[in-house]
Formats: sequence, structure tokens, C-alpha cells
Amino acid sequence: MTGERFWPHDEQLLRSVMDWSWRRIVGGQDPQARARPARDLAADLGDTVVPDGIGGHEALRLFTQVMVPATRAQDNPMNLAYVPAAPTEASLVFDLAVSAAEMFAGTWEAGAGAIAAENQALAWLAGLAGWPTTAGGCFVSGATMGNLSALVAARERARTRLDAAPDRWRFAATGDAHSSVRAAATVMDCGVLDVPGDERGRMTGDALAAVLDAVGDDPLADGVFAVVASAGTTNAGVVDDLAGIAEVCRTRGLWLHVDGAYGAAALVAPSVAHLFAGMEHADSFVVDPHKWLFAPYDCCALVYREPEHGMAAHAQFADYLEAVDRAEWNPADLAVHLTRRARGLPFWFSLATHGTDRYRDAVETVLATTRAVVDEVRARDHLRLVMEPDLSVLLFERVGWEMADYEAWSVHHARAGTVLCVPTRWEGRPVLRLCFVNPATRASVVAAVLDGLADDPPSPVPGGHRRA
Ligand SMILES: Cc1ncc(COP(=O)(O)O)c(C=O)c1O
Repeated sequence: MTGERFWPHDEQLLRSVMDWSWRRIVGGQDPQARARPARDLAADLGDTVVPDGIGGHEALRLFTQVMVPATRAQDNPMNLAYVPAAPTEASLVFDLAVSAAEMFAGTWEAGAGAIAAENQALAWLAGLAGWPTTAGGCFVSGATMGNLSALVAARERARTRLDAAPDRWRFAATGDAHSSVRAAATVMDCGVLDVPGDERGRMTGDALAAVLDAVGDDPLADGVFAVVASAGTTNAGVVDDLAGIAEVCRTRGLWLHVDGAYGAAALVAPSVAHLFAGMEHADSFVVDPHKWLFAPYDCCALVYREPEHGMAAHAQFADYLEAVDRAEWNPADLAVHLTRRARGLPFWFSLATHGTDRYRDAVETVLATTRAVVDEVRARDHLRLVMEPDLSVLLFERVGWEMADYEAWSVHHARAGTVLCVPTRWEGRPVLRLCFVNPATRASVVAAVLDGLADDPPSPVPGGHRRA
């Protein structure tokens, strides 16, 4: 330390924060969901941002007693809603180390060591997809940012291949592609060419070819610059016909982006490897380690087959950035960002600690749990399986229930902390959806929840999931 401290040093406060973090990491989480209306929380927090401060100890008290209890633990083994999380202890504790090291991981010059390790984790993912070692990318905050960055790179490549700008840029996707894909189209001010899904919502090569043929002989000249395929749709966990789609993209010179935010984690699992055939031909893909690869938020791996396309689209240049060395890949040059923390390092640390075999076993365990719960659903007359899962998302109906019944049941169990499971829709009908990502989830515990679905639905709770 050089010079005098400016900020007061409070050893006890630092230890209290570290102690709380330690207990949270090794001690498990509170499974109850207790979101509360903003006005109640504002009243309990009081004014915290004031000229003299409220002091660190009081701020920590508010964190532990007001803020944390009003959040939902994403990593509880019975949180089966949306896409939950299941970070390892190693990844969580290393997240603290990454913060403490305060590394700028946007440029090689500032963050070389960290980026080198992040790149090993990316190379492992690229290898699972069957890509060459020349592939590369960076970690971004989430797949929303990853999808956007990949699509901007795809359009940039298309721009360089066309003599004249098309009237409108478009990319192809199904209605089951994640909402972030359409959000990217809005940000990019481009259109989406809708490809009808099959009965499971999958994009097939044939359906894609038919849509592209209707555009014309040369879809690229008409502004179609990419196809977005899903390797695990969010609603149903279904993997598109990647091999068929890749072939169509190859013959028409279109960029294939695979959104594997949730599902591409299963590339590591031999029991479902066949579903990903064709992924080796894609031009870019994303996978969120903060979903099913046991890393903490926020962490999305964005990988390009040819990183130079990412660089061409995203590198920022300015007088003050002239000193930046471009001889090595700079993560800042590969996505829509500049400053970034080394958010891939907690994932890398967990991977390095436990080894890739353990990762394979963890994902296979989750798949086995899903299959066991499918059998439990089939064994109950009051339930009906909507479809055989590809991966670890399970859709099923409670015979005779409407959306209001599902909602009342869902809120009741979220409050009780037994299970977090929210309804969704399949072909317009309300259904229940379970998303498994946690190897600690027990099929027998989920089966007990399924038993309870035989009862009448609980009374609706005013305010639903928003009120305690
Ligand atoms: C398939 C898919 N793509 C994209 C996203 C968006 O990811 P993120 O929330 O990390 O931005 C999700 C989120 O659930 C997803 O499941």
C-alpha cells in the first residue's frame, strides 16, 4: 500500500461480510420465495443512500435481514422453475477471489493470465462441439448478450460479402427460439424469418429450406444473413435438427448460430450426444455456464468458429485505445462490451478443480433424474406427460386443471419452500414445467410433490408470486 488510506478501514466489517459469504456458500440456501411489493421493501430499507452513509454494519444487516430474504435462492435443489442454477462451492468461492483480484479482462495487456485460463475453458467447450482449435471467443454476461453479439458478427460477415446493402436484413428462427433472439432482432432493427417448428417445436432442415426457397435463389442477397437454431429450447428443452439445418446453411452460405444457452451443457453427456450432431458445422454458439454448467451468475460462453468475424464486428477504436495490443485476441473485441470482469474464471476454477469427467457425471446425473421423474409422472393417473424430454425440461399436465389452479398450486409451494415450479403453456394449453440442472435434486422428493398434485388445488393467494 502506498500513501495514506482514504477510505476508513474496518477489519470487523470485512470479516463479517466474508463470514456471511462463507456461511452462504457452505451452508446451503433458504428455499422459500418471498418477493414483496416495492413499497414494503422501501419502507424496511429506509433511506440508505445519504450524505453521511448508514455505516457498513447497518448496510450488512439490511442485506442479510431485508434484502436476501426477499430474494429466491436460484441454487436450491427444489428450484425447478424457469432455468435455475447450481453453482459448485468451488465456483462460488472463486468468484470472491476474482472480485478481490480486480482484474480488467477486456484486453490481453491488462488481463492476460485470466484470459488465458478463460480461453482454456472456452476451448474445452469448443472441443465438445467438435470445433477446430482455431475457434475462440469470450465470456459475456448472459446468452442475451451472446446471441446479440454473434448475430451482429454474422451480419457483418454478410455485409462484406454483398456488393449492395439489402432492403432489410433478416435472420431465420422458429417461434420457440428464446425471447432474446427476437430482442436481438429489435436491437439490430432487422426482421425475423419465421420457420415453423415440427410437433415438438423443432426446426428441421426441410422446414428451413422451404422458408428460404420461398425467399429466392440467393437468400443472402435478399438480406438473410443467419439462421438461429436452438440446442435446447427454454420452454421444452428440445434440440433442433442441427445436422439438417447446418446442411441448408452450408449450401446457401448462411451463418449458423446455435443458441445452446441452457442445453449445450449436455454436449458433455454421452447419453444425449447424438442430439447435437451437426453442431460441429455451426459458425457460432453460446452456452451459459450459469445455467447447467455449475457456475455462478453471470457467465455466458460465446464461441466463434472464426473469431476474426467477431473482431471485425465488435472491436472498438479510439485515440485513447491506440495502445491496446491487437496481436492477441482481446475479449473486448469479440462482443458488445469493453470493460469486463474475468467472469469465466469461476467456471474455469470449478472445471479445473473437479475435472471434466465429474462435469460429465453431474450432467448425466441430472439427465437420469429427469428420466426418473418422467417415469413417476407416467405412473400417476392424475398426470399426463406432454412429451418425452430431449434433455432435462419436463412438461406435464394435471388432468382437469386450468391455469388458475396451476398458479395457486405454484404460489402455495413457492411460499412453503417445497418446490418452485411455475406453469407455462404448450400449444396454448396451460401445463406444468420442471427444469432440472442440479445434481443434488432427488427424484424421490419430486415424486412426493407429484403425489400432492392429486389433491384439489389450494385457494388462490392474492398477489401471486409477487406478495409474501
Ligand atoms: C435458450 C436460451 N437462450 C437465451 C437465454 C437468455 O439467457 P440469459 O438470461 O443468460 O441472457 C435463455 C435463458 O433462459 C435461454 O434459455
